[in-house]
Amino acid sequence: MSVKFGIIGFGFMGHIHEQMLNSLKNAELLAICDIDEEKMKDSTSKGILKTSNIDELLNIKEIDTVIISVSNHVHKEVVTKAAKKGKNIICEKPAAMTVKEFDEMVVEVKNAGVKFTVHQQRRFDEDFRTAKQVFDEKSLGNVYTIQSMLYGINGNMHDWHVYKKYGGGMLYDWGVHLIDQMLFMVDSKIKTIYADLRNVINEEVDDYFKIWLRFENGITGEIELGTYFLADKPKWFERHWFIGGDKGSMYCDGFEPEGKIARTTRLLTNVPGKTTMTASGPTRSFGPPPEGVLITEELPKVNFEHVMFFENYINAIEGKEELLVKIPEVRRVLAVMEAVRESAKTGKSIDFE
Ligand SMILES: NC(=O)c1ccc[n+]([C@@H]2O[C@H](COP(=O)([O-])OP(=O)(O)OC[C@H]3O[C@@H](n4cnc5c(N)ncnc54)[C@H](O)[C@@H]3O)[C@@H](O)[C@H]2O)c1
Repeated sequence: MSVKFGIIGFGFMGHIHEQMLNSLKNAELLAICDIDEEKMKDSTSKGILKTSNIDELLNIKEIDTVIISVSNHVHKEVVTKAAKKGKNIICEKPAAMTVKEFDEMVVEVKNAGVKFTVHQQRRFDEDFRTAKQVFDEKSLGNVYTIQSMLYGINGNMHDWHVYKKYGGGMLYDWGVHLIDQMLFMVDSKIKTIYADLRNVINEEVDDYFKIWLRFENGITGEIELGTYFLADKPKWFERHWFIGGDKGSMYCDGFEPEGKIARTTRLLTNVPGKTTMTASGPTRSFGPPPEGVLITEELPKVNFEHVMFFENYINAIEGKEELLVKIPEVRRVLAVMEAVRESAKTGKSIDFE
């Protein structure tokens, strides 16, 4: 059996969804819709309906699921329409602009009795899964810090992403993924949230943020994103993870992760001071470790791809497994984003759960 899909919003992400669906043997794309007909001209699918009228797509009875990949400010309107027509829904992230808007959306979805999930496919990113696997194996001892960073050099933000009214800004764009990954990894309540959120070079929307999540289990999750970190080392200025525990650390750079797990063979709590001379003067605590003390291990190999999001979705539709991305999880991420804005505005730490 194949699940029959329609795509609403055929811009950047709509095209990616088309490719994905056409690569899956148990999915079939029946129609695409975009208010801008130009956008559908390079669709590679043959024999499907291409329409600028959303009702025409939603009236196709055979369509079981719609993927909603319109700009953020119209998610609620389109989700509501699709739910009222009885379609199951995969909505692009961020599902809504606010928790309130999301709650209203969920009422519509529940009243209609349709399945609803959000395209948080970065739960299947290789770099994230590598970090998560190391964390899950518990080989780093008591973890106290998890750092997740993403940096861009050119300050590139495009199209509607630079305008507030369309739901632009990096917190909505990538923040939603980075927060979702952190909360998917650390299974603990968040006690407090403290954040900085800035418009470094953009007039209307944020293009830099730094977020501290203090979890009840003692871990601090730190998330930083900057679109304008000028540097001449593109690899470093991409994606990073660092996990620090009392038995080891893990670092991992790049979307195709390169890094190591590092441990010490001798955990020294108090030793006689040994002075190392550096260009900045003598140090006893921050010199290199003695020869042979530090041992490293390779990062685990993980096998994750974005297609797994759709495999899970189709299995869930067929009743074989649960949807991976659940409504309360989506709501929690949106609530964190609101706390981030509040903390950045007030300069105060926000009590959370
Ligand atoms: N999950 C991810 O990794 C990922 C990546 C990029 C974008 N996105 C999300 O996908 C969504 C779309 O982003 P994009 O970058 O593809 O934007 P885009 O501007 O390239 O595409 C959006 C398309 O929606 C169309 N549209 C707008 N209102 C419509 C309506 N009422 N009915 C039908 N079509 C409508 C526009 O004409 C446009 O072609 C956003 O929510 C964004 O956050 C997700």
